[in-house]
Amino acid sequence: MRVLSGIQPTGRFHWGNYFGAIRQYIDLQHEEASYYFIADLHALTTVHEPARLRQLTIDAAIDLVALGLDPTKAVLFAQSDVPEVSELCWLLMTVAPMGLLERCHAYKDKVAKGLPAGAGLFTYPVLMAADILAYDSDVVPVGEDQVQHIEVCRDLAGAFNARFGQEVFRLPKAKVLDHSAKVPGTDGEKMSKSYNNVLELFEPPAQLRKKIMRITTDSRPIEEPKDPESDHLFQLYRLVATDAEREEMAATYRRGNFGYGQVKKALADAADRFFAEARARREALAADPAKVQAMLRDGAARARAAAGAVLQRAQQASGLR
Ligand code: ADP
Ligand code: TRP
Repeated sequence: MRVLSGIQPTGRFHWGNYFGAIRQYIDLQHEEASYYFIADLHALTTVHEPARLRQLTIDAAIDLVALGLDPTKAVLFAQSDVPEVSELCWLLMTVAPMGLLERCHAYKDKVAKGLPAGAGLFTYPVLMAADILAYDSDVVPVGEDQVQHIEVCRDLAGAFNARFGQEVFRLPKAKVLDHSAKVPGTDGEKMSKSYNNVLELFEPPAQLRKKIMRITTDSRPIEEPKDPESDHLFQLYRLVATDAEREEMAATYRRGNFGYGQVKKALADAADRFFAEARARREALAADPAKVQAMLRDGAARARAAAGAVLQRAQQASGLR
C-alpha cells in the first residue's frame, strides 16, 4: 500500500496541523511506502513573497523531520522539485470538465464572496490530482476539507483511463483523519492561521507560555465544578499531558475550586515537555542547512523516479512520445 499526502507551506505549523494531520501522517510512514511533500506550487496561489515562500518551505521540511518523519523511510520532498507533476497536471486538465471544477469549494467559496479568483485556484484540484496519481498512491490521509478534492482526483483518473481504454492511473482512496481531533485555538474557536488564534509548534518557549497565559476563559466562580470535556483549555491540555496528568486534571475540574491560571501553567509546562525532543532536533537541523537541502534533493530524486514512470504511461496512452 502506498500512502501520500501534502501540506501547504502557507505559515508556520501550529498545534492544529500537528494533532489534526501531521502526527497521523507520521504514524503512517511505517506502511509499505509513503510520500510526503510540501505543496509549494499550491502555496503560490496565496503566498506572493518569494523569500517567504522559500523559507516556509524549508521550515516545513525541518519541522516534519523534527516531529518524527524519517526521510530515509518516507520520501519527503518539495512539490516543485518534481516537474513531472506539472506535466501530468496538463494531461489531466484535458479530461477535466469545467462544471466539476466550478463546484470545488476553494474556488466556489471565493467567487461566492465576490473575491477575484485566478485560474490557479480554479485548477488547484487538478494539480492536486496530479500529485496523487503521479506516485500510484493508494491512500491519501487528509482532513475533511480535502475529501472533495480526492473525489475529483478519482473522477479525473477514471475519465483518463476511460478515454484511452487503459488502466493508466490507479484510483486512490481518501483516509479521513480523526475528526474528534479538532484542536481549539487561543480564543476557543477552531485553531487556524486565518483566525490569528494559533499556538505555533516551535515558537520560543517564553512566547508560547505568554500566549497560553492569555488564552480566553470564562468567568464562572472558582468553586463551581466544571465539565473538562467542554472546556477548550482542557482540550489543549489533554493533547500534551500524560494519561495520569489528564485524569488528575479532569478530576480537579469536576471537583471545582481551581483557577484557570493554574491550568494554564500546567498546560505550558506539559507543552514544554511534550515538544522538547522535537525542539532539540529542530535546532540541530536548522543549524545544518546543507543537510536539509541534501535531504530534499534525495527525496526529489526518489519522487521523480516514481512520477517519471507514471507520466510515461500517461504520455504513451494518449499518443505523445
Ligand atoms: P489553517 O487552517 O491554519 O490554514 P491548513 O488548512 O493549512 O491550516 O491545514 C493543514 C492541515 O492541518 C489540514 O489537514 C487540516 O485538516 C489540519 N488542521 C488545521 N487546523 C486544524 C485544527 N484546528 N484541528 C485539527 N486539524 C487541523
Ligand atoms: N490541498 C491540500 C491542503 O490544502 C494540500 C495538498 C496538495 C495535498 N496536494 C495534495 C494533500 C495531494 C493531499 C494530496 O491541505
